[in-house]
Amino acid sequence: MLLENKISDKIQVWRERVNRLKQEYGDFVISTVTVDQIYSGIRGVPIQVSDISYVDPEKGVRYQGYTIEECIKLLPNPENCSFPYVGGLYYLLMTGELPTAAKAVAIEDEWRGRAEVPKVVFDVIDAFPDDASAMAMFSAGILAMSSTSKFAAQYAEGMDKKDFWLPMLDDSMDLIARAPEICAYIYNKKYRGHQHIDPDPNLDYAANFAHMIGLDEPKVYDLIRMSLILLADHENANVSAHTAHLVGSALSDIYLACSAGLNGLAGPLHGLANQECFKFIQDMVNVFGGVPTEEQALDYLNSTLDSGRVIPGYGHAVLRNIDPRFSVEYKYGKFTVTDDPYFQTADIVFKVAPELLKRTGKVKNPWPNVDALTGVLFHHFGLTHANFYTVLFGLSRLMGFTCHIVWARAVNKPIERPKALTTRILEAMVTEDSLENLVRK
Ligand SMILES: CC(C)(COP(=O)(O)OP(=O)(O)OC[C@H]1O[C@@H](n2cnc3c(N)ncnc32)[C@H](O)[C@@H]1OP(=O)(O)O)[C@@H](O)C(=O)NCCC(=O)NCCS
Repeated sequence: MLLENKISDKIQVWRERVNRLKQEYGDFVISTVTVDQIYSGIRGVPIQVSDISYVDPEKGVRYQGYTIEECIKLLPNPENCSFPYVGGLYYLLMTGELPTAAKAVAIEDEWRGRAEVPKVVFDVIDAFPDDASAMAMFSAGILAMSSTSKFAAQYAEGMDKKDFWLPMLDDSMDLIARAPEICAYIYNKKYRGHQHIDPDPNLDYAANFAHMIGLDEPKVYDLIRMSLILLADHENANVSAHTAHLVGSALSDIYLACSAGLNGLAGPLHGLANQECFKFIQDMVNVFGGVPTEEQALDYLNSTLDSGRVIPGYGHAVLRNIDPRFSVEYKYGKFTVTDDPYFQTADIVFKVAPELLKRTGKVKNPWPNVDALTGVLFHHFGLTHANFYTVLFGLSRLMGFTCHIVWARAVNKPIERPKALTTRILEAMVTEDSLENLVRK
């Protein structure tokens, strides 16, 4: 397998780099932790090494060092398409090297050969009522494949831990190969009266997904390619990627780990935000009976803030500038969907929201994030069911989860076990009171 050979070539160098840091600089202090950070979601505390991708507060995410703009420019595209092969991105994420078109296609061919979804997955999804959460179905469908894990089988037989990454990679390739049909199955069950469509082996990975949900148009193919590329990874310290990585660190198989990651993604403060952003824009259009003026939009945003709610699609825990993923979507939208009232409304919000958020004096990043436009673009091109948007996010993010987990096994990362303290222990630390006194309190 192409990836197996490439990772094999690189593994020794990475192991040596990691071991050298641990052995020669193991005591080097890189950070201190404050009481405030402990009570604020360990915000800003470095807890991970994330070589697959890194979020630069100003420039946004870099995949293996490449900015989003560079990835879109440098990764090979299918003919006459605006966005690259997803297989090429996976090659870059896994190996750190830009692929040729032939390599990108080879990854997608490999996926095609592994794409058959075990029947149990459909049985599990069908056990849900049609109106159940699409993300719950997705997570359960992934979980149902745990019994097919080659890693779990080989681990049970006993294997050298240096080789764990090999069946982990094998499982990852199976999972990524099968995921589009699983997502399409959920979509068709929920929104197309259970009319399922067979995969088309002549289409690339992203286009085939669009085909399987009945949106067989080149523009939708490109939209799916764009969304899969933009959302594939965002460091592994965010809720979903960190969860997947944490569960993987217990040597749970890739299906168990990725299902757990998807459950985190389903939360409204994380992946569900893309649905909420679209609904927010949709509500504005409904309230004003069309595209609002800047004054109307400002009033609406002010009343949103006054009622103690956030403006969805704006702000970020790490970014301190316009999210470059938003910029890609904005450019694409300006080029393709200018006559859409939802896009026009999102554009007006973009004109007025940053200044308004700056004036609150507390928002650290008043700029739009990727979620501000994702749903608007999906909706424009026929993906009108906002409750499905987080599944599309998950379909993309599985790439990041799996790359982090394969490499964690490759460099032999141990089980994660940080330390928890009690409030009383913290009180003792800050007052320099003795633990003896404290326990008696
Ligand atoms: C993404 C988000 C959760 C990051 O949170 P964070 O790291 O705590 O952000 P900040 O440090 O800037 O928050 C400081 C304050 O500004 C507020 N704030 C941040 N973004 C805001 C927004 N878009 N609208 C209104 N208020 C916002 C926070 O709620 C917080 O208020 P508080 O002190 O009263 O609790 C936050 O910006 C947000 O809720 N954005 C809207 C939802 C969204 O777009 N999510 C998708 C993220 S990719």
